[in-house]
Amino acid sequence: MHDVFISYEKETKTIADNIVNVFEKNSIRCWYAPRDVEGEYAQSIVTAINKTKVFIIVLNGKSSRSNHVLNEVETAYKAMDEKGLAILPFKVSNELLSDAMTYYIKRFHWVDASNHDLNTSIQELLDKTRNILGIKIEETAKEKERKDNKYFVYDDDFELERLSGQRSLLEKMTHSTYKSVYSRYEKPLVLDVGSNDGYLTHKIHQESNARETIGIEYDNLAVNKSNEIYGSENLKFYEFDIEADDFNQNIKILLTKHNIEGFDIINISMVLLHLKNPFKMLKVIRRYLNKGGTIIIRDIDDGLNLAYPDENGYFKKAIEIVYNNPRWGYRYSGREVYTYLSRLGLSDINLETLGMHTINMDFYEKEALFHTYFGAILHDLYYLRKHSPSESVEKEIEWMESHIEILEEDFLKKDFMFLLGFVVYTAINN
Ligand SMILES: C[S@@+](CC[C@H](N)C(=O)[O-])C[C@H]1O[C@@H](n2cnc3c(N)ncnc32)[C@H](O)[C@@H]1O
Repeated sequence: MHDVFISYEKETKTIADNIVNVFEKNSIRCWYAPRDVEGEYAQSIVTAINKTKVFIIVLNGKSSRSNHVLNEVETAYKAMDEKGLAILPFKVSNELLSDAMTYYIKRFHWVDASNHDLNTSIQELLDKTRNILGIKIEETAKEKERKDNKYFVYDDDFELERLSGQRSLLEKMTHSTYKSVYSRYEKPLVLDVGSNDGYLTHKIHQESNARETIGIEYDNLAVNKSNEIYGSENLKFYEFDIEADDFNQNIKILLTKHNIEGFDIINISMVLLHLKNPFKMLKVIRRYLNKGGTIIIRDIDDGLNLAYPDENGYFKKAIEIVYNNPRWGYRYSGREVYTYLSRLGLSDINLETLGMHTINMDFYEKEALFHTYFGAILHDLYYLRKHSPSESVEKEIEWMESHIEILEEDFLKKDFMFLLGFVVYTAINN
């Protein structure tokens, strides 16, 4: 099955090839001759047009006079009335069009590529086609289910380096929130969920002047290393799968062992997006938040990302690759946090931070943000190539490899801005 029929004259074959290439990379299947002709030529064309949802005409003076193209347009015109086919002219030159073609297309809005960069215009054509087909980028991602996503590999150096770059940026952004939470407690009991290599847990432990801190994490190697590097009498790390059915039971056992009933501060940083059912985990955790205790959640929502200017749509495309990538978690997770916290019956829910942006970042911070977000895409795609190879992964690698440098160059330009949908929430158990 295909979604789009491309009508063109052989002089504009390269443009048609370009359109097909971009559309198919974006999972919109095209029909165009001669590639897709099956059996008798004319019949094959009529059948294809009648099965299609969008009919694109690559339009210049010559194609407007071509009998082939005019025949196709006439067939499309009929299918428009009978089957609701949408016709989308793509004007690629300023030449005069034939009267016959003008008659057919005058009532349609067209995409005018005659005075614009071809890639930008194809992107506009893609957006219009997506609209007609009812594909919104956001919905495409939303349709994707949250996956239980055990992605973390402790001995992955790149991932560790990425995390540490991400960390220093996040620290700067969230420093005041943590400070104000710490100021509410004297010697708090702290739980850090998804403690990874223990760095953040250790930092919270020290800065909050905690009586006792526990980090839980399911990566066995990470837990061992954390205990080795940061572990102490009052700071301990345990191997836990917070999505497992016996999570509640295990945490109860742990608390009994430590002789505590609950925590004053529960920190959940960049973890919810990796869970299949975050609310299920939060319901359990909430039982162990002391009266007056604070929960801090840091998470991501790529739906809030903004890259400007993005004339060629490259940033948009790169962000799309991110949310198609299972290693990066559920990229619309951030927007769900408020609902979860309300349903848990917590009070003083506060959105402390909304978005991390490059305005006022110095060169090195911008570079770090680029590296942690866009720079990491290729690395993750190579990981996917190794562990679950597919044609689409190959296509994405090819695209990223040929665009990463231009992305970085644009990102570092002075007048470019990027806003990352990063959210920080706090809420209290009153
Ligand atoms: C992106 S890292 C965030 C690390 C740290 N909290 C920070 O903000 O720097 C997510 C961590 O959550 C852990 N994690 C994911 N799913 C988990 C699960 N079901 N049980 C326990 N830990 C989990 C991962 O292993 C990883 O260490």
